[in-house]
Amino acid sequence: MAGVLDGGRFILGPAVERFEAEFARFCGVPHSVGVASGTDAITIALRALGIGPGDEVITAANTCVPTVAGIEASGATAVLCDVDDSYTIDPERLEQAVTSRTRAVVPVHLYGQCADMDAVTTIARRHGLKVVEDAAQAHGAEYAGRRAGALGDAAAFSFYPTKNLGGIGDGGAVVTADSEVADRARRLRAYGERERYVSAERGTNSRLDELQAAILMTKLGHLGAANDARRSIARRYLEELEGLPLALPAERPGGRHVFHLFVVRPASRERFRTALEERGVDTLVHYPRPVHRHPAYAGLAENGRLTRAERFCDEVVSLPLYPELRDDEVSAVAAAVRDVLRESEV
Ligand SMILES: Cc1ncc(COP(=O)(O)O)c(C=O)c1O
Repeated sequence: MAGVLDGGRFILGPAVERFEAEFARFCGVPHSVGVASGTDAITIALRALGIGPGDEVITAANTCVPTVAGIEASGATAVLCDVDDSYTIDPERLEQAVTSRTRAVVPVHLYGQCADMDAVTTIARRHGLKVVEDAAQAHGAEYAGRRAGALGDAAAFSFYPTKNLGGIGDGGAVVTADSEVADRARRLRAYGERERYVSAERGTNSRLDELQAAILMTKLGHLGAANDARRSIARRYLEELEGLPLALPAERPGGRHVFHLFVVRPASRERFRTALEERGVDTLVHYPRPVHRHPAYAGLAENGRLTRAERFCDEVVSLPLYPELRDDEVSAVAAAVRDVLRESEV
């Protein structure tokens, strides 16, 4: 940070370039393009792939609003699809949602676990669709030995402060193996400029700043250890909560879940949350309603019934999980959960 301040260059400078190169390497792809947010990364990735007005883009109904906001800002129409028990897009339902206007799919690696990307990619290839991973919650997650970011035509990451890799403000990145997509994303983030003050196409202002890049660069060096800590906390929860009337997260075989969130489903969410709060354990809900149940998105195209997405949004609860949580704190939370479920049978 001191180096950035001394250098006097604050937007899209050497720190951003260095971070982009390191983050691309981390993901296992040649290119990464720093942008202003994860939402913008989705928009810019789609636009860089040639997707826009008149096109349909399918995504998971249980994601948070920014996924859909990012899709719609590209000019495309978002179509919601149901999810499977891993909380990620259900490949069968995805295929049913494809129409003659579908041009892309945005699988969301929700809670830190990659979607079933072999199935998604097979369907995408069959129908000529582009795949843009929403990897905002999945820095370092793996699927079949490859990292999130290397599993589609492009991927969108968020560096919002609470993410597995977070800055001290907003930030995001488009990651891709395709140099043309990367070049176009670079233009789109800066007014579509081909060269200084010559706009080759209509772009926007969505730039990563140097201070964020400097911070993200340093934190990237700790991401592996932080993800390992998240996984070991999750393992402890899974051991200590086994056998209770509580749906626990399951890791996809061959995958590496990075537990951005540890999401469980009790029989009665409100009673469960209140009883835990009384024992000093705070919980959150990610997310309380699927996208089509927000007033702003009530008319959004749905593909068939979104039964699982709706049910999960009514049932999910996130237990405390962050890399600094100590073993005794994890055990105390687990003991409180056991206590609550034993006592009130919620
Ligand atoms: C799944 C998902 N997609 C997209 C986003 C958007 O990221 P940002 O808040 O950086 O715009 C977020 C985070 O908010 C997210 O969790």
